[in-house]
Amino acid sequence: MAAQQRLICASTDLSEAGRAVRFELRRSEGVVPAFAVRWRGEVRVYLNRCGHVPVEMDWQAGEFFDHSRLYLICATHGALYDPATGACLGGRCDGRGLIAVPAVERDGKVYCEES
Ligand code: FES
Repeated sequence: MAAQQRLICASTDLSEAGRAVRFELRRSEGVVPAFAVRWRGEVRVYLNRCGHVPVEMDWQAGEFFDHSRLYLICATHGALYDPATGACLGGRCDGRGLIAVPAVERDGKVYCEES
């Protein structure tokens, strides 16, 4: 099945290294939780699934950045991820990064690909 673009939110809903927009995404394996953040001006979308244990990562709903606002952090055991790529930077993710979802920003709205 071809990927479709799914509207996530307005561009203004995502502030730099701020609170994420959580949403559910339809994928081949079913409906899964995901989130969008803004990092260095760009929108990044990842599945809300830690590389250590496949649990949701936010410590409060929509809060994925650590106190430094430089890394995404898993609330369960503290694994750190690069907001730009989702790569594991330390902790129990042990090299297993986040799963990125292609996203685009157009006419003040944010979209991602849904299968
Ligand atoms: S479940 Fe995320 S670090 Fe363990």
